[in-house]
Amino acid sequence: MAAAMGVPRAARRVLRGRACNVLIPLLCPQRFSSTTFKASDLQIEMTKDPKPKPDPAKLVFGKAFTDHMLAVEWSKEKGWGKPHIKPFQNLSLHPALSGLHYSVQLFEGMKAFRGQDKCIRLFRPTMNMDRMLRSALRCCLPSFDKSELLECIRQLIHLDRDWVPDRDSTSLYIRPTFIGTEPSLGVSTSNHALLYVILSPVGPYFTTGSFNPVSLLADARFVRAWVGGVGDFKLGGNYGPTIYVQNEASKEGCQQVLWLYGDDHQITEVGTMNIFVFWKNQQGDLELVTPPLNGIILPGVIRQSLLDLAQKWGEFKVSERIITMGDLIKGLEENRVKEMFGSGTACVVCPVNRILYQGKNYHIPTMENGPEIAKRFLKELTDIQYGHVASDWILKV
Ligand SMILES: Cc1ncc(COP(=O)(O)O)c(C=O)c1O
Repeated sequence: MAAAMGVPRAARRVLRGRACNVLIPLLCPQRFSSTTFKASDLQIEMTKDPKPKPDPAKLVFGKAFTDHMLAVEWSKEKGWGKPHIKPFQNLSLHPALSGLHYSVQLFEGMKAFRGQDKCIRLFRPTMNMDRMLRSALRCCLPSFDKSELLECIRQLIHLDRDWVPDRDSTSLYIRPTFIGTEPSLGVSTSNHALLYVILSPVGPYFTTGSFNPVSLLADARFVRAWVGGVGDFKLGGNYGPTIYVQNEASKEGCQQVLWLYGDDHQITEVGTMNIFVFWKNQQGDLELVTPPLNGIILPGVIRQSLLDLAQKWGEFKVSERIITMGDLIKGLEENRVKEMFGSGTACVVCPVNRILYQGKNYHIPTMENGPEIAKRFLKELTDIQYGHVASDWILKV
């Protein structure tokens, strides 16, 4: 009874912000009894029919998949089953399952990189595991041991290591996915779940030699995430509805969406990236700004890495604070804005050169300014990812 009474209060605290996410297990008290699966129990079934590998010069994002996948089933009665690496195959799913009807579904996006030394490296993968577990608990899906999942993923990549492309700027995209497989139409905690991981070789985000800037539609009629919502979790339900807005941006001649929030039109994220502005602030200090993790921002691995690098450089102010369209326009009018760029696993950094806002185009002088900081971030992070520079952010496969 006491626990039941505690749930709504805990839920309110959870919804107020990411700092309280540690309380999420209180929403699903029965999950405390969940065990975990173990990498030492891995059952491996090799494919009898290996596929031809795609031409590394013609890789398209998310179209080709490797020979194997990882899958682990969970049920309330039996807990976690043994993890299986098996030939890549279709799933057989009950048509009523909660993952399809109510978006009891979450995913992660991470990459493995092959260096010139042929070694394969994962970049800060524990951050993805942390985020995945937080997302799982928010969906009332069962807990698991993050290091056991990471070890299973490591073994899957090792098995499919010949699929990690070695051309410049290519990588192996890793898509861990977790779905509720409750075969019932009730909107309630799923008693069955499936965690699986698939791998896809991907080409460079920017075509060779170029660092193409993107144009953005900033339209306050569309909101990606809101305080008390789930924008700071990587749930599939956050993404499907954005496709419509992306299409609106395309119709307006823009490549991506700049997500605004609130009456003051706070700048939050760009497409599926975090956003950074490098400028001289109103006090005249050079400053790198990104919005704070206040519940509406996805805590990006690259976002955190850029903040960490900039803090280490110690050359300018580094701030996590709210920045509005009004602040940005004032900065543009006063020639204080130097660079604006998105950050994410797909591209590392992606420069912005134009924003269409309230019918007016605003030119962002990112490219005219180098972009010095964006290029420096790109070089430092890719040097780490491809093993040119040693770093404790790397886990070798
Ligand atoms: C909404 C959103 N913001 C930001 C990011 C960037 O996160 P990361 O740096 O972990 O790739 C992503 C990509 O996962 C995203 O989907």
